[in-house]
Amino acid sequence: MIQKPKGTYDILGSESGEILYLKKLIESLMDKYNYKYYKTPTFEASELFHRGVGETTDIVNKETYDFKDRGDRNMTLRPEGTAGIVRCYIKNKLHALGKPLKAWYLGSMFRYERPQAGRNREFMQFGLEAFGSSDPMIDAEVISIVVNLFKLLGLKGIKVNINSLGDKQSRENYRQALLDYFKPYLNDLCEDCQTRYAKNPLRILDCKIDGKKEIMKNAPKLTDYLNENSKRHFELVQKYLDSMDIEYVINPNIVRGLDYYTHTVFEVEANIKDFGSQNVLGAGGRYDHLVETLGGPDIPGVGFAIGIERLLLALKAENINISEEKNIDVYAFSTSDNEKPYMLNIVNILRMNGFDVEMDFMNRNIKNNFKQADKLNSKFIIIIGSDEVEKNIITLKNNQTKEEFKIKKENIVEFLDSKLGDE
Ligand code: HAM
Repeated sequence: MIQKPKGTYDILGSESGEILYLKKLIESLMDKYNYKYYKTPTFEASELFHRGVGETTDIVNKETYDFKDRGDRNMTLRPEGTAGIVRCYIKNKLHALGKPLKAWYLGSMFRYERPQAGRNREFMQFGLEAFGSSDPMIDAEVISIVVNLFKLLGLKGIKVNINSLGDKQSRENYRQALLDYFKPYLNDLCEDCQTRYAKNPLRILDCKIDGKKEIMKNAPKLTDYLNENSKRHFELVQKYLDSMDIEYVINPNIVRGLDYYTHTVFEVEANIKDFGSQNVLGAGGRYDHLVETLGGPDIPGVGFAIGIERLLLALKAENINISEEKNIDVYAFSTSDNEKPYMLNIVNILRMNGFDVEMDFMNRNIKNNFKQADKLNSKFIIIIGSDEVEKNIITLKNNQTKEEFKIKKENIVEFLDSKLGDE
C-alpha cells in the first residue's frame, strides 16, 4: 500500500461541499472589490523565493521543497503566493494596465513544517495582492476583506492584530537599535539568531526558541522608532478601519515571518476556545519594495493570504455548516440495452438545458434502480422501456409525491422546467 505523504490530505467527494461553497463565496466577494483572478505556477525558480521571501526567514531556510529539474535548474514548490504574483506582475508589465492592479488567487502552497492540526505540508491559500497605491485606505480595504469574508461566513471568534513595521528609514533606525541591544547578549542567542543578528536582526524577535527568552521583553519596540511618515500612515489605517467599524488591536509583537513587509502588517486569529496553536487564519501587509527587489519598477503593494484548512477548522469549531447538500434533478434508467441510445439522447438534452442528471451505468434491476434514485436524492426518475421508444414518449416519476407522468419527448424540457424551474 502506497502511503499518502505526511502533512497532506485528501478531500473526498462526500466532503467537498464546504470547499466548493467557499470558492464560490470568494469569487463573488472578489467581484465586489474589483479583484481579478490570477493563476501562477506551483513551482518557480528557487531564487524568486530567496530574494522575495528572504534568505533569513524560516520559510526559505528550513521549509521549502527544493528540487533540480531535468535541465539542472534549481526549482522550489511555492511556499506562498505573493512572490509568484509579483514575478507575474513584473514579467507581464501589469503596471501598464493601470493602478491599482488587484489580483486574487487560490491554490496549494508547500512548506516542510511539522504537521499538526491546521499545519500541513501542502495547504491551500486564498490570497490577494493590490499593486500601485501607497494610500493607507487600500491597507484598510485589504484588512476589511478578510474580516468581511469571515463575517459573511458567520464566524464570530476572530481577533484582528495590526502593527506597523514602518518605512525603510524607520526600519533602518530600528535595525540599528536591535543590533545595539542584542550585542551584549550575542552568546545567549541560538545559533540561528546569531546568523540573524548579522543578516536581519528583526528576525530574532520572531524566533521560536529565543522569542520566549527574558531578554526579548526589554528589546526595543519598533513603534518607538517609527518616523513621522510611518506614524501618519499607520494612524490613517486605523482611522479608515474605524470608519468601517472594524475592530482591531495594535499588537507590537506582530513582525511576520516574511521579509518583504513595510508599514502595515496584520494577522487575523481565531479567538475560539480550545482552538489549538495554529490559530492565525489569515495574515498579510504592505510591501513597498518587493516589486523593485525582484527587478521591477518602484511600485508598492499590499495583500494577504488566508489558510483555507484553518478557516474550515474555525468554522467547524463554531459549528457553522457551509456545505450545500447536492441533490440531482433526474435519475434515468432503461429496462434493457435496446433503449440506451434513446435514454442517452434524452439525458444529453436535459443536461444541456441545465438539469443535473445521473443514469444507470450498472445495469441494475428496476427495484435497485429505484433504490439508487433514492440514494442520490433524485427529484425525478425517468424510466425508459420499449414502449417509450416506440411511442416517442418518456415515463417520469416524481420521486417525492410518487406521481407518474407520460410526456411527449419533445416536451420534456418544458415539463421539467415547470416542475423544477424555480429551484
Ligand atoms: P503567511 O502568514 O506565511 O503569509 O501565510 C498566510 C496564512 O496561510 C497563515 O495565516 C495560515 O492561515 C496559512 N498557512 C501558513 N502556513 C500554513 C501551513 N503550513 N498549513 C496550513 N496553513 C498555513 C503569506 O503567505 C503571505 N504571502 C501573505 C501575504 C500576501 N502578504 C502579503 N500578501
